[in-house]
Amino acid sequence: MSSSGGGPLEWVLMVTARSPTNIAVIKYWGKRDETLILPINDSISVTLDPDHLCTTTTVTVSPSFTSDRMWLNGKEISLCGGRYQSCLREIRMRAGDVEDEEKGIHLRKEDWERLHVHIASYNNFPTAAGLASSAAGFACLVFALGKLMNVKEDNGKLSSIARQGSGSACRSLYGGFVKWAMGNDASGCDSIAVQLASETHWDNLVIIIAVVSSQQKETSSTAGMHDSVETSTLLHHRSKEVVPKRILQMEEAIKNRDFASFAKLTCADSNQFHAVCLDTCPPIFYMNDTSHRIINYMERWNRFEGAQQVAYTFDAGPNAVLIARDRKTASHLLQRLLFYFPPPADNELTSYVLGDKSILEEAGLHAMKDVEALPPPPEIKDNVPSKRYAGDVSYFICTRPGRGPILLTDEDKSLIDPKTGIPK
Ligand code: DP6
Repeated sequence: MSSSGGGPLEWVLMVTARSPTNIAVIKYWGKRDETLILPINDSISVTLDPDHLCTTTTVTVSPSFTSDRMWLNGKEISLCGGRYQSCLREIRMRAGDVEDEEKGIHLRKEDWERLHVHIASYNNFPTAAGLASSAAGFACLVFALGKLMNVKEDNGKLSSIARQGSGSACRSLYGGFVKWAMGNDASGCDSIAVQLASETHWDNLVIIIAVVSSQQKETSSTAGMHDSVETSTLLHHRSKEVVPKRILQMEEAIKNRDFASFAKLTCADSNQFHAVCLDTCPPIFYMNDTSHRIINYMERWNRFEGAQQVAYTFDAGPNAVLIARDRKTASHLLQRLLFYFPPPADNELTSYVLGDKSILEEAGLHAMKDVEALPPPPEIKDNVPSKRYAGDVSYFICTRPGRGPILLTDEDKSLIDPKTGIPK
């Protein structure tokens, strides 16, 4: 190894990448190997547009660094956890030679064993909101380290490394519609993500996330699925009998852009996942009254129209992810959501509906007065009093299916100062 330059740090090499998060429409819940993170069933997800929800990660290497360090949203975190160590070890094992003529850097693959990295990661959405930040985070970490260390593996192999950070992260290595094949091998080599279709295959879907206000301390996915595997008989029936059929049906629905089947399967699978949580001892309650209300409203609307307008799905928390069949339906969906869950009185509409705000315009919602004037949806007119629940939703994010990880070549986008090796 040789290096050039002087100053406070010897040379620094750095890579910045951006990765999306994903929402499972056929859920992963339960591991057969907790260390390698091998699941008990296949799962399928939709990658969400990173313009609205993503993690950006800068990874740097310098001979001046004395240990591996990481900062998440500006705060240093410990890398001692086995999951970070697994990802770093697996990537280092596959590192290649790196040449940077300009900086006079010539690294051989063995050099990576003793060089340390500094990592800075930033989510463009609140980490605490329960929006699969670990999926985007580990996908981005592995993708960026792979580029820095000149790893020659394809995204499938990288997905099996990201999987060892967090199971759902493997699906964030691809855009569009993604399957995580559970695999059979005890080593986990065949437990990888594959892309079923790109984000352009079905690009009129609109996704609206309701970030539901919650004081409740949630059970982590890791702890929850451990307890389910130990105690839920429904989970074992689900993984053996139900999911394999649903995976085939979901693949067909995606291939044919068959929204009715897609929506029915998505809702049924979310509901079964939460039934498994109830069937766990002690039972786990991820959804709250607001989540249940949203399910009721969506079911009532679908029934009233006589056709699926919207799919709903909930991960390990109360937030609703709603998928509308097209933009026109999405504007009707947003009208309904803002009718039932208007912003608290002193709120601006533009800070209550985030992401792709063009849906607001299409729904004719330009200002708070338009929200106040929304009529009750026709499906509730006759029988149910039209109660509104201001404050029960913190905010909405409008988004769509999106692309997989990308490199950000613009130096301005990097999160680490090349002079100091720590976050800007
Ligand atoms: C409900 O991937 O967060 O979101 O592998 O233990 O890190 P670990 O769990 P994680 O679990 C995600 C569970 C889920 C369903 C899904 O994304 O498939």
